[in-house]
Amino acid sequence: MIENTHQDNTSFGYRTVTEQEKTGLVKEVFSSVSSKYDIMNDTMSFGIHRVWKDALVDWMAPKDKTSCLDLAGGTGDIAKRILKRNAGVDVHVVDLTPDMIFEGRNKIGLGSTNQPVSWIVGDGLQLPFKDNQFDYCTIGFGLRNFRNYTNALKEIYRVLKLGGRLLVLEFSNVPNESLRQLYDSYSFKVIPKLGGIIASDVDSYQYLVESIRKFPGQEELKELMAETGFENIRYRNLSFGVVAIHSGWKI
Ligand SMILES: C[S@@+](CC[C@H](N)C(=O)[O-])C[C@H]1O[C@@H](n2cnc3c(N)ncnc32)[C@H](O)[C@@H]1O
Repeated sequence: MIENTHQDNTSFGYRTVTEQEKTGLVKEVFSSVSSKYDIMNDTMSFGIHRVWKDALVDWMAPKDKTSCLDLAGGTGDIAKRILKRNAGVDVHVVDLTPDMIFEGRNKIGLGSTNQPVSWIVGDGLQLPFKDNQFDYCTIGFGLRNFRNYTNALKEIYRVLKLGGRLLVLEFSNVPNESLRQLYDSYSFKVIPKLGGIIASDVDSYQYLVESIRKFPGQEELKELMAETGFENIRYRNLSFGVVAIHSGWKI
């Protein structure tokens, strides 16, 4: 049974909290780390998060004159890559945390003819868009932080056009036992310490490593997407399953 779908309680790392509490706690996490978010990603992943994000946009292969909602878009890494790949995509970044949006705007600009990005502070569970609006929705390392995965997927499904596509980039399960042990040991022993040194915030990075372990694995997420109505769902493992990209269509 996949947790976090039919009840008011949810997980915040290894803690059980109400859905409402989780939203506030997640906002605190990302407000606290926003100015060091990019450098922490580079440091703790040895720069590999860039390869994962490139892989997402490669698989997406966005077409000209289309629209994309980059949900939980944070500091704009995915939006930036989509535009680099195809400047003819109309990109809308939505994120819960104003400080993350602030960093993103500084990084890739306020939006112009060349960089048509709109930045919106908002909750992915109540998107300020009408039904059937977007050709694509991308969400990178975001879904895990939502208070209710099923409701988030339903809301994404609502705003996608018929024929629209969702791509989810998220931490997943490493099937190989020895590699998993190595990865767990690095995650729990090193990442929170790095968070303390670089972002002066051990707790937020402790939350990160715990939240990864609570998030559904490859097959479970596929099932959750199918239950929401997505079709033709496929996933690709990256870095031995440390991360997976799921793709599904609203048909
Ligand atoms: C780990 S960051 C990912 C940022 C970016 N997508 C990336 O790949 O670097 C997760 C982001 O999810 C956002 N977030 C969490 N819950 C959200 C929600 N309910 N609605 C919108 N954004 C949310 C956070 O504010 C944070 O910026």
